[in-house]
Amino acid sequence: MARLAVDRAFVVGEVDRRLFGSFVEHMGRCVYTGIYEPGHAAADPDGFREDVLELVRELGVTAIRYPGGNFVSNYQWEDGVGPKDGRPRRLDLAWRAIEPNQFGTDEFVAWSHKAGVEPIWAVNLGTRGITEAVQLLEYCNLPAGTELPDRRVRNGSKEPHAIKVWCLGNEMDGPWQIGHKTASEYARLAEETANAMRRVDPGIELVACGSSNAAMPTFGDWERIVLERTYDLVDHISLHAYYEPKKQGKEGKQGEGEADQASFLGSAEGMDRFIDSVVATADHVKALKRSDKEITLSFDEWNVWRQQEFPGELGLEVREVSPLIEDVYTVDDAVVVGSLLITLLRHADRVKIACLAQLVNVIAPIRTEPDGRAWRQTIFHPFALTAKYAGSTVLRTEVSGPEVETAQYGRIAALWSTATYEESTGELAVFVVNRSESETVDFEVPVFAGHQLVEHLALYDDDRGAVNTADEPDRVIPRRIADTTVADGICTATLPPASWHLIRFAPIS
Ligand code: AHR
Repeated sequence: MARLAVDRAFVVGEVDRRLFGSFVEHMGRCVYTGIYEPGHAAADPDGFREDVLELVRELGVTAIRYPGGNFVSNYQWEDGVGPKDGRPRRLDLAWRAIEPNQFGTDEFVAWSHKAGVEPIWAVNLGTRGITEAVQLLEYCNLPAGTELPDRRVRNGSKEPHAIKVWCLGNEMDGPWQIGHKTASEYARLAEETANAMRRVDPGIELVACGSSNAAMPTFGDWERIVLERTYDLVDHISLHAYYEPKKQGKEGKQGEGEADQASFLGSAEGMDRFIDSVVATADHVKALKRSDKEITLSFDEWNVWRQQEFPGELGLEVREVSPLIEDVYTVDDAVVVGSLLITLLRHADRVKIACLAQLVNVIAPIRTEPDGRAWRQTIFHPFALTAKYAGSTVLRTEVSGPEVETAQYGRIAALWSTATYEESTGELAVFVVNRSESETVDFEVPVFAGHQLVEHLALYDDDRGAVNTADEPDRVIPRRIADTTVADGICTATLPPASWHLIRFAPIS
């Protein structure tokens, strides 16, 4: 019997609600025929798809990063404001696609209000620099009275957009990035841009680019060099990571053979170690600077993405808006996404922002057909339930139980867990994943005094490859587990192989 230890006194940290963020990039069909499709039967007068907005609200997303991603590194924000018939069609170099610029800054802010999310903005530090970042911030955040805010007012937004969080570029360490830079080049530009942006609006939060992933050759050094220059000017350092069932046996993009599903189910281990390393690097710079300030983390791109199946940007034909990386998610993918959310919560003391990349169609929890239906992918469900039921405070958990062997991470605990306590209601939520592919685990949780079991929800399936489609949108949905019991203050549940669980307790009223 595996046993979870949890105590009200062992607090990890408060949950910043921006942990349940997502990401909208001008890429593939995320914007066009995703969130925006004038002429669609469900489109509102602004062209925003109401069916998608409803799903976004149900997903419980709190904050959304925009407009990229790699796209931002060659984006001219001025193209996307003002009368739509005057906006240029332009070649986007990141995804070799024609950008029609019918959706831009003011549309995204208006859409965010309807979706009930906080917009997070990225500025172009690839092909552009300090001037353009400052001008965009002026356009968005200053009251009328000077040229750029006046232009915003003329474009229909009297009140400032009041965007709080700004990302200083995107993945600037990546050779694929337009305007890619060395750590020192980026650090200087980020420092000067941050300094200038703070003079426009001292109230903003700034995110410096960290590494594109933990396997980058510059990982570690990049964060150190960037933070040594920007420590006093920025609030967060970014992390990006995508996980997939890697096919072994061949170097390069196209994997062959059997996918390593055991390591894939252990992906949370990779995310956990990545976060620990970035925290250590940030704190190393803190020590060097004898600073009292603590840099927090913005995990502003994370998800499951079968990158081995992606031909790479240069493999793409120049084309109009068309599908790109529309991964169809399985039950196992949903279990992994659930386990990654557990990891983010376990680091709630340092991770303050996290964005599931992306929101619609492009590696996304929500899928749409152009001129057609919208539906929830499997990964929608653990995200929505975690966003809905994670309480205000994360409590440390320890689990005894079986272990599993993985090629990528070595021997790891089969069960991966966290718990949250909601101060306003006294509710306790236990999140746990069984990462074993073969073992059903009997699991015990001590019930807090005066509490009772509310429900046990789980996501698993005999067919771990099952997916949701437009025709069968509810093939994979969470199930309510009726045979979870409480006796003598102990809750006992059964956790099947490769499964995600949420067990909720509340004070007896
Ligand atoms: O989310 C897809 C892409 O992945 C983003 O544009 C980029 O930042 C990352 O490499």
